[in-house]
Amino acid sequence: MLQGKKVILGITGSIAAYKSAILARMLMQEGAEVRVVMTPSSVEFITPLTLSTLTDHPVYYQMQENQSWTNHVSLGLWADLMLIAPCTATTLSKMANGMSDNLLLAVFLSARCPVMISPAMDVDMWHHKSVQRNIATLQRDGHILLPVGTGKLASGLTGEGRMAEPADIVAAVDQFFSRSQDLKNRKILITSGPTREAIDPVRCISNRSSGKMGAALAKACLERGAEVTVVSGPVPKDIYPAGASVRWVEDAREMLGECKKYASSSNWVIFAAAVADYRPIESVKSKIKKTENELQLTLVKNPDISTEIASQKQSGQVMIGFALETENEMHHAKQKLHTKKLDCIVLNSLRNDGAGFETETNQVSLISADGEVVEIALKSKEEVARDIVSYFISKFIQ
Ligand code: PMT
Repeated sequence: MLQGKKVILGITGSIAAYKSAILARMLMQEGAEVRVVMTPSSVEFITPLTLSTLTDHPVYYQMQENQSWTNHVSLGLWADLMLIAPCTATTLSKMANGMSDNLLLAVFLSARCPVMISPAMDVDMWHHKSVQRNIATLQRDGHILLPVGTGKLASGLTGEGRMAEPADIVAAVDQFFSRSQDLKNRKILITSGPTREAIDPVRCISNRSSGKMGAALAKACLERGAEVTVVSGPVPKDIYPAGASVRWVEDAREMLGECKKYASSSNWVIFAAAVADYRPIESVKSKIKKTENELQLTLVKNPDISTEIASQKQSGQVMIGFALETENEMHHAKQKLHTKKLDCIVLNSLRNDGAGFETETNQVSLISADGEVVEIALKSKEEVARDIVSYFISKFIQ
């Protein structure tokens, strides 16, 4: 049920715009208050009159009307959710680049609520690298992307790119609102990315963690209403969703220091970082010259962040680790779960294609301290993160 929920329905210029009328009607039947914002080109596909009649409210599509300015800021602040359906490749591109040459985009840039996007375009446009790049940018910015449908397209071609069916969109909106409060008033600390252990001012020991899994977890926790702090090693600055507070660190000792500041006030701590287990015994102050045929580095053990933080665990706190394994995976993961005194460990194996470092996808097993094991099949890191967070909620909160 969407009783009392305020939804801005954004409509862009696509053949699929006819479905927006059905969508508006269905949202209202569920109890939502709906205001419609349209791009200038969308009015060629469906009339504002249809939508204003269905929503019983004026439809906004011009920056000014009757010599008065349309207040996109107040619209953006009014909503609990902005849903853009259908969203064309043009609007996706403008959204990804912060453009504001029509009212819908101005509302999008002013909105403080979550934004859900249901793209619609032809199959080759959908698969085009530039469109996928824009989609990735918008997802990284924390917006919720609904999957496109597959089938016959307006061009006569068959493939991916259809706007999702109105009933599926309403189900996603329902699910969004029903789950969004689960983690309200809860603080979650997430370690993410690699650490870099300096050998000299230009060289370091590190690993291939991209921060994608940590970013997906941050996003999934934010979607459920949590206050999220990420302590991250060096990865691209824009990887984390806008709502997360990010503390940047270089090496394991810095990561531990930063975690100590937030751990005691966090309800959950998720250790998704790939921390270098060893560091050079000393970081040489000037660049090591290439004079010898061999160079010996002596490494010393880094502090184990998860072990140290979990050893200070207070009652009610939940500590969750990750294990990246290459062989005898379940055995090693269980060993880490117990020696680090964690409540749960998320096992990903480099033997599974599409799992682990750098990939867009992951496949994991969740192993809890009480012996329960839950498998999550290969899917995007964002979907895996949502499943992981749902599991933690059912396991540790409800
Ligand atoms: O960033 P991506 O490219 O998306 O990749 C994601 C990931 C593969 C890095 C992630 O899913 C993952 O598995 N992270 C943990 C990798 C790892 O270092 O596993 P481990 O088995 O070495 O460590 C076990 C646990 O102890 C982890 O929770 C780790 O964060 C923690 N640890 C390890 C060493 C250390 N000194 N301090 C720690 O806190």
